[in-house]
Amino acid sequence: MNKSYAITIRWPVMSPTIHDNPRTGTYTYPRDQDRISRRCWARHKDRAEKQILIPNRGVQKMKEEALPTIDDLRKSPEEFLSRLKAIKGHELYRVLLGVQNELTTGCIVRFLASNEKWKRSRMVLDLGCGPGDLVAKLSGCFIDKLYTGVDLNEDFIATAKQQTKMLSNCTFYQDDIYTFSQGQYNFIILMAVLQHLKIDKFLKHLPFLLDDEGVVLFFDTTKENSIEAHPPLVTFNKFCRRFELMQKLFGVNRNCMAELESKLGAHNFKIIEDQKQIIPITTTVERLQVVQYLLLFCTVAKKMLWIPINFNKILTELLQWYDTPDSRMHLKLQLLLIEKAQSR
Ligand SMILES: C[S@@+](CC[C@H](N)C(=O)[O-])C[C@H]1O[C@@H](n2cnc3c(N)ncnc32)[C@H](O)[C@@H]1O
Repeated sequence: MNKSYAITIRWPVMSPTIHDNPRTGTYTYPRDQDRISRRCWARHKDRAEKQILIPNRGVQKMKEEALPTIDDLRKSPEEFLSRLKAIKGHELYRVLLGVQNELTTGCIVRFLASNEKWKRSRMVLDLGCGPGDLVAKLSGCFIDKLYTGVDLNEDFIATAKQQTKMLSNCTFYQDDIYTFSQGQYNFIILMAVLQHLKIDKFLKHLPFLLDDEGVVLFFDTTKENSIEAHPPLVTFNKFCRRFELMQKLFGVNRNCMAELESKLGAHNFKIIEDQKQIIPITTTVERLQVVQYLLLFCTVAKKMLWIPINFNKILTELLQWYDTPDSRMHLKLQLLLIEKAQSR
């Protein structure tokens, strides 16, 4: 009998509040320092401060070169792994987001295509837009709207501008979500950003950005495991548990969607749609993307949170999964649409 096994990886994975200070190019302190024991924090702070981020150069070129085919992985895993290790933290994070978004943004597009609020919206704001993958995709699919992206990270904003430079309906600002105040929007999107935010502070600022009839869409992982694989990825799963622990130590809110739901009422917002999305990994291309994605994820997690890992074991496990004829994988995500409670 076929059985599904759950593995826990919370993705998207990294907290920029820990390691991407765009202004100084260095790591900053986690926002919830007080949750970490002083000794533990001192150890990690020391290591973090030694790592200086390198500006995001040549991302596109590196993206093409870094992602191996299954044959590459089989023939010379060492070469691939050493190539990955050589990529600087920030660039690697961008590549990781790129693969992740290729697997997931289709889900948002399908949701929006049938959403009445979206059809009527003209001004769209992507908060925490990262390198602009979603804006680039949406502006290609829905050309009747004006898109604005905001992110703290200046390298990401530069990439976002670069990848939409031929489009006249996309604007990007390097700014902080909590203080950004350029305009009012009909449709605001946060994709994989909520985990980095203080929810009360964010919900307080949100009405300043939202049109009276406007809505806000959160696209994130569900509270439960976000990937289900068969056959199970035991080694990878173990790695993820360590990663989860480290994320918690650094103040990433792994329960952000539940916390958001519980706080909406107090801030005069209400839920108008709550959809669980299950994305099956079916085509050969998607299966390869997932293998690439999980390897990148491990590399980024190891580099940024210093989690010990046996790459070769994980690679072997992923190749076994890829080669198993009836192997399966599902990504589980949540789409939550909210509006101001008094707006109807
Ligand atoms: C996991 S990434 C997701 C990026 C993008 N939405 C995507 O899915 O490709 C989280 C993003 O949120 C941004 N971010 C986090 N806190 C922020 C803040 N206070 N203001 C602006 N951007 C922020 C980070 O710089 C990062 O690009």
